[in-house]
Amino acid sequence: MSNPSLLILPGDGIGQEVMAEVKKIIDWFGDKQDLKFDVSEDLVGGAAYDAHGTPLHDDTMAKAQEVDAVLLGAVGGPKYDDLDFSVKPERGLLRLRKEMDLFANLRPAQCFDALADFSSLKKDIVSGLDIMIVRELTSGSYFGEPRGIFTENNERVGINTQRYTESEIERVARSAFELAKRRGNKVCSMEKANVMESGILWRDVVTEVHQADYADVELSHMYADNGAMQLVRAPKQFDVILTDNLFGDLLSDCAAMLTGSLGMLPSASLGSPMENGRPKAMYEPVHGSAPDIMGQNKANPSACILSFAMALRYSFDQGDAATMLEKAVESVLAKGIRTADLMQADGGKAIGTSEMGDAIINELNANV
Ligand code: NAI
Ligand code: MG
Repeated sequence: MSNPSLLILPGDGIGQEVMAEVKKIIDWFGDKQDLKFDVSEDLVGGAAYDAHGTPLHDDTMAKAQEVDAVLLGAVGGPKYDDLDFSVKPERGLLRLRKEMDLFANLRPAQCFDALADFSSLKKDIVSGLDIMIVRELTSGSYFGEPRGIFTENNERVGINTQRYTESEIERVARSAFELAKRRGNKVCSMEKANVMESGILWRDVVTEVHQADYADVELSHMYADNGAMQLVRAPKQFDVILTDNLFGDLLSDCAAMLTGSLGMLPSASLGSPMENGRPKAMYEPVHGSAPDIMGQNKANPSACILSFAMALRYSFDQGDAATMLEKAVESVLAKGIRTADLMQADGGKAIGTSEMGDAIINELNANV
């Protein structure tokens, strides 16, 4: 049998630097765990624009459709700010998400004990936190028609439409229930069924999917505004949170900051299952290309490394390997080995991107 395939798209700025560390980790799993991947690498974002005049070449798009998973660094940078909207680096990322139809965006908010001091909340509220937000990514208010700015009765009117079909809700609900089965077996679905028809439909469809196929998973419903309050009051009550595109945008950013640093946050975007049963998938850190620190060996590679851990778990069924990698990151942090973004004002000396990658590999070696 051939190895599972992985397309690496480092992109721009620190995307390249953090991906270099992920490549070391991929090699480590191949050498030491006999967990091998067929890895190919290509350009996206500004790097692709520089080479081809487009932020995503058709050949790269075709490759992304074929592989078992895509791992992306980050795109963008000041160099490309004045480009026409149609060729901006971000368009490369949007095209990947759209053409692969990645409708479920997974954003974990996990608080490593060693970093609990970085949260804006009290340590005991976030320590040990491990929740997952599943945000619908391809429909809802950001895509619904009609939309636009129109003139009515001599004044301008801005319009966006929150629109969801049953099948759009059903497929993302399935993603959330499937995830919950591999985690704490609990889903809390958030909408505003009290004031929005799309929210009523959301609640109905989620309930139907639950009753039909996932009755063994614990399901609760919450109005999204209360959900926001509960997230900062007692976030550990949640396991998987399922929500729409608009509320998910806000709730996932809010949950992310419970854990401290942008340099620690991974994400996954999943689509429908392919013929081999794996979901279409792209994994990427939440952060951008960080032009302010690029080329200085300062970026924290953890977010990108933890994104690869998510790929191990959700695309390749390698939950043990994923846990091993997450534990290695956690142990390094617990030893006080930190990149600059994780230093307290009174802290010691920060290490660089490549040293952080090496420290994580040392930890992996120590545990095999
Ligand atoms: P950013 O996430 O690149 O940086 C925000 C701040 O966090 C900066 O001070 C940066 O130095 C720091 N930071 C980010 N990642 C870090 C890491 N791994 N380690 C240490 N520090 C880190 O967001 P910003 O500055 O708003 O955008 C910069 C560029 O990135 C823009 O061109 C933007 O469009 C693009 N961008 C791309 C994204 C993507 O590819 N998914 C997401 C967000 C922004
Ligand atoms: Mg956002």
